[in-house]
Amino acid sequence: MQTIRITLDVSTAYRPATMIVCVCHRVSDRDIAREVRQGCASFEALQDELRVATACGSCTDCAQQTFDHACARNAIGALGAGGAMVHRAAASA
Ligand code: FES
Repeated sequence: MQTIRITLDVSTAYRPATMIVCVCHRVSDRDIAREVRQGCASFEALQDELRVATACGSCTDCAQQTFDHACARNAIGALGAGGAMVHRAAASA
């Protein structure tokens, strides 16, 4: 019997492609997600930080949707972390 060993680099294997949201200021969906993870709480604050949707304005709807999606994903992640904390607390009681 022959053994075949396959090495998979998971750090890049499932990484989705980056989407440029704002061409005028070269802002990507990953830039927006990063800002949300770092605590950006409003679209206006995002505009102040990245200047997204502050030039021609054609990206405003997409930028708002990307921001909303990132906020939702961030909230779900926070709920998951909270759930894990509750589970650990219950396990140690
Ligand atoms: S593409 Fe975003 S302001 Fe023009």
